[in-house]
Amino acid sequence: MKGIILAGGKGTRLYPMTKAVSKQLLPIYDKPLIYYPLSVLMLAGIRDILIISTPEDIGAYKALLGDGAAIGVRFDYAVQDKPRGLADAFIVGEDFIGIDSVCLILGDNVFYGQSFSHILEKAVSAVDGDQGAVIFGYPVSDARQYGVVEFDTDMNAVSIEEKPEHPKSKYAVPGLYFYPNDVVGIAQNIDPSTRGEIEITSVNNEYLSQGRLKVQLLGRGMAWLDTGSPDGMLKASEFVEAIQSRQGFYVSCIEEIAWRSNFIDDAGLKKLGDALKMTDYGRYLLSLMED
Ligand code: DAU
Repeated sequence: MKGIILAGGKGTRLYPMTKAVSKQLLPIYDKPLIYYPLSVLMLAGIRDILIISTPEDIGAYKALLGDGAAIGVRFDYAVQDKPRGLADAFIVGEDFIGIDSVCLILGDNVFYGQSFSHILEKAVSAVDGDQGAVIFGYPVSDARQYGVVEFDTDMNAVSIEEKPEHPKSKYAVPGLYFYPNDVVGIAQNIDPSTRGEIEITSVNNEYLSQGRLKVQLLGRGMAWLDTGSPDGMLKASEFVEAIQSRQGFYVSCIEEIAWRSNFIDDAGLKKLGDALKMTDYGRYLLSLMED
């Protein structure tokens, strides 16, 4: 399975913060926002990753992440010249996806919780075992700004609506989607919505109508944090700081995940730690090998 991180868009809801800097490069506490979705792909065991961003911002992502060799993954980069919608990721990424299945994660989505790696591995096996697509449902107090799943009395998904005024459930669909290879063809045939975008919700509804969509509910032990407003970003930063200072474990530390997943060895981690040893982050990397 391949992975795509969609890190484009204009970020207008966060102006002036994002006037000159791409939203997904802004910090959540001690690391760039994109580290959080990147860590999710790595926890899913995905090592071939395409980063999609705007013509103005793609260079900054290359400067930040390079070719991926230092953390044992392979990064490719592609440009989305206009924010045509989330499903455009599969059109921009067609050549990169090739004949593989694919996981799309939005570059501004932050997840944290116990057993999350296991949930991710199960999603990969379901898709690669020909069981269709896998998306998630997460309870939120106000679902109006998200894709929202409607369920029947047996909790089978019956519809998904994009940003409904009157949500039919409290389950929002997070920006993490696992698809078989035919998502490319499906995305190519989606008509733009009234807001002029090719919606990921339309892709999901197509899988649903084919009886090939699994909506896995995430429980209250999982955190899926909002980064869509200054307030959301501040709260996400505070959440990460609280976990890190209390437990001494870093949240979404891509170098640590690479090392624990055996994408890199001790020497690789030491090199990364040495390069940053003037910071708490670098000293944390070096301390991992002592424990
Ligand atoms: O975060 C989960 C939600 O993400 C889902 O519940 C919704 O169903 C889904 O439509 C999406 O809603 P948003 O309102 O958050 O989408 P937004 O247009 O803000 O785009 C999400 C991120 O993707 C944002 O950081 C910008 C980036 N983006 C967006 C578009 C439309 C791109 O890189 N390219 C695009 O064409």
